[in-house]
Amino acid sequence: MDLRVSYVDNPIMAELYDLVPAYRDRPDKDFYLRCAAASNGRILELGCGTGRVLVPIAERGYPITGLDMSEHMLAKCRRKLEALGKVRTDQVQLVQGNMANFRFNHKFGLAIITFHAFQHLITAEQQMACLNCVNRHLEMTGKLIFDVFFVDFKRINNPLFSEEMEFFGESELPDGRRLTANYRIAGFHTAVQYNDIEMIYYLTNLDGNVERIVHAFPMRYFFRYEVEHLLERCGFRVVDLYGNFDESPLMNDSPEMIFIAEKFKEV
Ligand SMILES: C[S@@+](CC[C@H](N)C(=O)[O-])C[C@H]1O[C@@H](n2cnc3c(N)ncnc32)[C@H](O)[C@@H]1O
Repeated sequence: MDLRVSYVDNPIMAELYDLVPAYRDRPDKDFYLRCAAASNGRILELGCGTGRVLVPIAERGYPITGLDMSEHMLAKCRRKLEALGKVRTDQVQLVQGNMANFRFNHKFGLAIITFHAFQHLITAEQQMACLNCVNRHLEMTGKLIFDVFFVDFKRINNPLFSEEMEFFGESELPDGRRLTANYRIAGFHTAVQYNDIEMIYYLTNLDGNVERIVHAFPMRYFFRYEVEHLLERCGFRVVDLYGNFDESPLMNDSPEMIFIAEKFKEV
């Protein structure tokens, strides 16, 4: 029997997340560290998860608030910060909440949304609610920096991808269990621009028993000018758009769309 999980309802996702090579080695950390170094004032990370990006930012002494809807992901993040020991607790704040509906009683100089977390907001109403919330929490000319994947037209609506494909090969965990993972697109909703994604983990326990854990979630995909229009409606202007974390411009074969947006008006 499959165990179906989400970030919120089961602690296993927080455990597995940091073990996935493609997540652990994602080449975005230096980019977001540069953004942090160039910012003024406190940083807000929405959908901070286990702190893959937040922890290195905090480690360098930049004050940061992380918000995530999953207590399990935040608990993992908290443990990583505690393990470092030297992070000042007044510098880092972790808050459970919804990125489309949050309130703090202070403003930030920079907001970041890393590793496609914005794509968990499926409808335009949710996306605008999030962007308007960010706007209200940024100083004038403060920046919002976030990435979404650049749509690969060969995959996004291709039924071949509904078959399970290898995500990563087998690796041994520190406790001796073995982990491998596949992924597939379980549903295509082209008219409303989202796919149902399944990340399927196979965890072999020490007794040889294999657990099949399915992390299923909808993922919105975006087009360039749609995001530019959304941002403009929510008081942001795009000052840079990169196609990868080396800050190269967006090109036909870029893997990412990385928006550097500046608040130019109150909403
Ligand atoms: C792909 S993970 C990215 C985590 C982290 N940003 C990183 O780069 O490793 C997505 C995270 O977004 C969080 N998330 C999804 N929808 C959210 C929402 N509406 N509000 C807050 N967090 C959300 C999930 O709980 C999860 O931790």
